[in-house]
Amino acid sequence: MFDRVKVVVNLNHLWHNYTLLKSIHHDKRVMAVVKADAYGHGGVQVAHFLESKGCDFFAVTDLLEAIELREAGIKSDILIFGKTLPENIKKVSEYDLIQTVDSYDYAYQLNQQNLKIKIHIIIDTGMSRFGIYHHRQEDLSSAKAEVIQILNLKNMINQGIYSHFACADEDNENFTNGQFNQFKSLVEAIENEGYSLGLKHVSNSASIIKYKDRTFDMVRTGIAMYGYPPIKTKLKFLPVMSVFARVIALRNLQAGDGVSYGQTYQINDHRRIASIAIGYADGYPRFFSNNDIFIFKGHSLPVVGRVCMGVTMVDVTGLSINIGDQVEVFGIHKSLESMAVKMDTITYELLTNMSKKRLLFEYIYE
Ligand SMILES: Cc1ncc(COP(=O)(O)O)c(C=O)c1O
Repeated sequence: MFDRVKVVVNLNHLWHNYTLLKSIHHDKRVMAVVKADAYGHGGVQVAHFLESKGCDFFAVTDLLEAIELREAGIKSDILIFGKTLPENIKKVSEYDLIQTVDSYDYAYQLNQQNLKIKIHIIIDTGMSRFGIYHHRQEDLSSAKAEVIQILNLKNMINQGIYSHFACADEDNENFTNGQFNQFKSLVEAIENEGYSLGLKHVSNSASIIKYKDRTFDMVRTGIAMYGYPPIKTKLKFLPVMSVFARVIALRNLQAGDGVSYGQTYQINDHRRIASIAIGYADGYPRFFSNNDIFIFKGHSLPVVGRVCMGVTMVDVTGLSINIGDQVEVFGIHKSLESMAVKMDTITYELLTNMSKKRLLFEYIYE
C-alpha cells in the first residue's frame, strides 16, 4: 500500500544485468558494489538477492553499511572502500570485514590495535582520491617499498590490492591505459620480490565493458548492474529502478492563474493540472521545475511550475486521469539518463537521491 511514491526494484533486471557483465568476464570474480544503499536500491535486499544467486563479494562505503549487511545475514566477503578510524577497527574484525588500507601510516595505526584485520591495499594511479601514490613510473620504488612495509605488518592480513580508474567512462583511453600500466608494473615488481598480493582488481562498470583486456582477478560493478552503463554499448542493460507517484489533486485552471511557488508557470487558456505526490525531499530534484515530464498510460505530462518539497504539478489537459492514479517519474518508459543529461549530472546521483525513509520500496522477482 502506498499513498505517495512507490519505488519498484526489479530484481529480474538486476540479475539480467549482473549475468550480462559476468558473461564478459566469465573467468573473473565479480564484486557487486552495494555502497550508498546499493545506489539507492536497498543494500540489504540487493545483497541478499545476489548472494542467493552466488555472488560472494560486496563493497560498501563504510563500517555502518558493512555492519548493516552482516546483521542482515550476509555471509560473503565485504570490502569497505572508505576509511574506518583506528578506534573503530575492532568492529571490522568482529564482523569479519575487509578494510581498505591507503597508506603505511594508516596500516601501522591499525596494526597497533593488536587485532588481525583483513585488508585490501589501494593504489592511487591517477584518481588522486586516496591510495599509495603511483602516478608515474618514477614513483615505482617508493610505492613498492610502502606496499611491502604494509605486507610485513604482522596484524594486517592482506587479501588484495586495487586501483580505481578516473576516466574509463570518457574518451581518454591514454589515461586509463596509463593507470592500468602503472598498477600492473607495481604488482609485478612486488610479486617479483616473492610477495603474494591476493586479489588484484581495477575494473569498474565502464572498464568492464570497454577495456575487456585491462583487468585482473576480479571486476567491480556498480552502475551497469543497476541498468545504466556509463558508456555507449550495444549490450542491453535494463533499468532496475522505476519510480511511480500518485495523483493527489486535480484542478481546472484558467488564463491568468499561476502555478506553484513563485508563479513561474502562467496559464494562458484553460488547463487541467494534476498535483503529483513527489518532490525534492523524495529525491526528485527541484531542478526539473518547468523542465521535465512524467508518463501516464503512454502520455507525456509536462511538469509545470516549481517542484515543491513533496508535490509536483503536471499538465493533464484532455486526459482521463483520476485522483489515486499512478504516474511514472522514471523507469521503463522514461529514461533516467535523459534526466541526468538535462541536469548535467550522472545517473548515480539521481538514483542515490531517492530517499529511503519517505518512499515505499517494492521488490519484484518472478
Ligand atoms: C572503488 C570503486 N570501485 C568500483 C566502483 C563502481 O563504479 P561503477 O558504479 O562505475 O561501476 C566505485 C564507485 O564509484 C568505486 O568507488
